[in-house]
Amino acid sequence: MQWIDPAAEVGYLVAAALFIFGLKKLSSPRTAVFGNQLGALGMFLAVVVTLAKIGADDGILGGWLIVCGVLLGSLIGAIMARRVQMTGMPELVALFNGFGGGGSALVALSELFGSEPAASRLGANVFILAAGASAVIGWVTLTGSVVAMLKLNGTIRGNPSFPGLNLVKAGLLLAAAVLTWLLIRSGGEGVALIAGISLVAAILGVIFVVPIGGADMPVVISFLNSLSGVAAATTGFVVDNNALIISGALVGAAGLILTGIMCKAMNRTFTEVMFKAYGQAGDGGDGSGEKRTARGYEAEEAALAFDGARNVIIVPGYGMAVSQSQHVVRELAEELERRGSNVRFAIHPVAGRMPGHMNVLLAEANVPYEQLVELDDINPSFGECDVCLVVGANDTINPAAKTDPGGPLGGMPVLDVEKARTVIIVKRSLSPGYAGVDNDLFYRPTTMMLFGDGKAKLTELLAAVKDL
Ligand code: TAP
Repeated sequence: MQWIDPAAEVGYLVAAALFIFGLKKLSSPRTAVFGNQLGALGMFLAVVVTLAKIGADDGILGGWLIVCGVLLGSLIGAIMARRVQMTGMPELVALFNGFGGGGSALVALSELFGSEPAASRLGANVFILAAGASAVIGWVTLTGSVVAMLKLNGTIRGNPSFPGLNLVKAGLLLAAAVLTWLLIRSGGEGVALIAGISLVAAILGVIFVVPIGGADMPVVISFLNSLSGVAAATTGFVVDNNALIISGALVGAAGLILTGIMCKAMNRTFTEVMFKAYGQAGDGGDGSGEKRTARGYEAEEAALAFDGARNVIIVPGYGMAVSQSQHVVRELAEELERRGSNVRFAIHPVAGRMPGHMNVLLAEANVPYEQLVELDDINPSFGECDVCLVVGANDTINPAAKTDPGGPLGGMPVLDVEKARTVIIVKRSLSPGYAGVDNDLFYRPTTMMLFGDGKAKLTELLAAVKDL
């Protein structure tokens, strides 16, 4: 069927346009849902076109096998998405990144085995280079993402490292490059070479991510997201699929931009995050070694602080996600506004466990977007803030980022909540946040600790504020 190729190209072009417009719409919370739908429509179109093309070309896989694969994958994906807790989303996203990378590597390698490199439009050498690059990047993404997932859910703790680790990484990268070159020279025939490339890349993914910790995981997660796109794009060259090249390039570029944003948020360069092991967690305290006590308060006592408060800033953190307290937070904010307070939400770029985590939760609870203020814009306002309510945030408000430059949080911009007249912190205990650094703020005289689960404590606080 001669018409299928030009028709497929038109279909891919429309799909690519849908991806680009969808991405554009994602840049505003108001249009993000529509953007997501446009992207999904584009992907649906790309899949349908590819199936039609394969059916017409009588490709290596039978149409029914592909339909079964699509149905099985959709079923597993739907079950995983329905069963995952909101707090498990960051791990699921990390895992999906990894699957994207692994899938790209498998497709590229199966194409290398199943077709004749010399017959490729790219020419044999470029074809094998693209397949080798896809395998390296794909396996790095898969194993790196699995390690990131295990770090996020706490299965892997600490940031194990050893002297000379950077040399090992460089050695493995070099080995991957040499093996790919040998694969090109062998005409794509060497099964042992392909196995070697896969093994080296898999180890590289693990040792790249394992030593990174403290507060630097957001950078790694964004970078792995970018790599999954690059792997898809290189696979697009191997299978000669324009939709895959374009969508992979879009994911790669978007992930790279996000990586830059996350580096800026952490006040670090990309190479520092990747190659410099940041300090292990110290006590982060005042350095005196004295035993300090933090005072716990009842919700009724804390509520009194809101009486007559003009400026209130709410700082959400990972604990808000764990306790699913975003709806109560919104109700409390509305109640405070009714009582005459000006309420704003301070959004730290790495709060929670995935980029935009707090924005997603607060949007779900219908908090108006205008009330969400980014770190740089809100920090000057803490000096005039009467009450700052911290809901399960810790690292993102930890003054140790400023006072302990060599520590895991050293240099990371944090929210200046200590400048507020009264700080109310809702969390279950005095335990540290993700970076493992103790927080001096808990012990300050202007701080009121409200110990307990976020949702339960905020519900009590809301009732107490209503009774004022
Ligand atoms: P964290 O520093 O992780 O602290 C969260 C706090 O929430 C904990 O100290 C915990 O204290 C409290 N908490 C847990 N469950 C709670 C519950 N049910 N009710 C009330 N409080 C609860 O949070 P953060 O300030 O949002 O900082 C995020 C950290 O994660 C940063 O270090 C960041 O670099 C890192 N990280 C971010 C990302 C992305 S992309 N955003 C990805 C990976 C890592 P208790 O146990 O005492 O309750």
